[in-house]
Amino acid sequence: MSENNQYYSQRLLEHNIKYLNENSRQPLVYLKSFGCQQNVSDGEKIKGMLSKVGYDFTDSTDNAQVIIYNTCAVRENAEDRVFGTVGDLKHVKEQNPDLIIGVCGCMAQQQHIADKIKQTYKQVDLVFGTFAYNDLYKMLWEVIDKRKRVFNITENQVDIDEDFLQLRDDKFRAFVPIMYGCNNFCTYCIVPYVRGRERSRKPESVISEVKKLVSEGYKEITLLGQNVNSYSYGFPKLLREINKIDGNFRIRFMSSHPKDASKELIDTILECGKVCKHLHLPVQAGSDRILKAMNRKYTVDEYMQIIEYARTKAPEFSFTTDLIVGFPGETYEEFCMTKDIIRKVKYDNIYSFVYSKRSGTKAAELEDNITDKQKGLWLRELLLEQREITSEWLARFVGKTVTVLVEGEGRKGSDYLTGKNDENIIVEFKGNKNLIGEFIQVRITKAMNWALEGELV
Ligand code: SAM
Ligand code: SF4
Ligand code: F3S
Repeated sequence: MSENNQYYSQRLLEHNIKYLNENSRQPLVYLKSFGCQQNVSDGEKIKGMLSKVGYDFTDSTDNAQVIIYNTCAVRENAEDRVFGTVGDLKHVKEQNPDLIIGVCGCMAQQQHIADKIKQTYKQVDLVFGTFAYNDLYKMLWEVIDKRKRVFNITENQVDIDEDFLQLRDDKFRAFVPIMYGCNNFCTYCIVPYVRGRERSRKPESVISEVKKLVSEGYKEITLLGQNVNSYSYGFPKLLREINKIDGNFRIRFMSSHPKDASKELIDTILECGKVCKHLHLPVQAGSDRILKAMNRKYTVDEYMQIIEYARTKAPEFSFTTDLIVGFPGETYEEFCMTKDIIRKVKYDNIYSFVYSKRSGTKAAELEDNITDKQKGLWLRELLLEQREITSEWLARFVGKTVTVLVEGEGRKGSDYLTGKNDENIIVEFKGNKNLIGEFIQVRITKAMNWALEGELV
């Protein structure tokens, strides 16, 4: 820790000990992360930093001394939700002026958002972007000590701090970032602007973090990056190294950009026993013209070659994907090509979104003459198609016994449990709660259009 940081962490610690002595409890932080796993992981890092200076955590904004929203900018509705939530806190702040409200993460990194908060959401004390975590103690101390509003959306790409404490909510599943940022500039996407260029963590530190997690009892490790295939030290090599770590755990990763998804990657997945036989391979669209306009740098044919290679070697290999409906200028015929590709690939699941215009991106300058209502109808059409595909394709598991990591209580009632198999498909079955956090064997009895049902073996 730098000297500067030590000074501010000391001040915060003294302040929080004083609070503890006066209130017989530590000051509480409510932190909510929106968006992708990378953001959840950042939120865990922020929690780790705050726990070091005497804060505890709460699930309710009612008893919190500090409220932080760690935000996502990927679509407009994600931003609207945050503005709505922060707007609701205006009266709370009026009644409790000592409450500290912070907005951080991808949304906060954009100048126009920081400006809007400065002018319109005066209840917010602290705004910081995705490059400012190392200054967290200083920023927070300035809010407390000087009672001023702090805005920090610096774009300086600081070196990756390899030695951070993450306070994880989950006791058996852990996210491990292997790289940050994105260089791809897909024309619709805000991520490269709010997360900066790609930086890879050193394999040694990723491996030692995974070893530590496994020794602490973590059963599922998800390696994170916007495009893990461009991990500078070689992603298949990293997978093989992590696969060698002793212990009862499984490895997932996301996301994989199809332009860099290689046969070597598929071979590695198939050869490494701990790596789940599942690939999240976002295709985004089913027409070459739209893929080009999106700057995705692959064609439908090239994408299908990877799918076919995997399915030739492992016919039941599981794929999931992300799709955008209604990219500017997309015609109904082109949208139908997206429906064609989901039928051809047979995804276990799709994550589909209506295109959302992001200011500052190239696509925001394109003419867009399809109405939101129309795009909504296309999205529904796509989801209905996928429901059919899922229920047909999941039937391949019926009669088979699969390994499930039990995650919690099931939807059907308190004597039911839910978990996921290696392919990341939800499995529901009857069982005792003491199995939560364990790997168990389940024989699949039924395939639904969103999950599998089975019985404990
Ligand atoms: N890096 C990942 C990749 O390229 O595969 C994607 C990460 S992005 C955070 C998650 C998904 O959000 C994308 O795959 C895309 O489908 C969707 N997305 C991104 N920008 C969007 C936009 N402007 N409108 C709608 N969906 C968007
Ligand atoms: Fe966005 Fe494309 Fe980067 Fe994924 S690869 S984060 S979609 S710019
Ligand atoms: Fe993730 Fe949203 Fe940022 S998807 S990288 S939190 S814009």
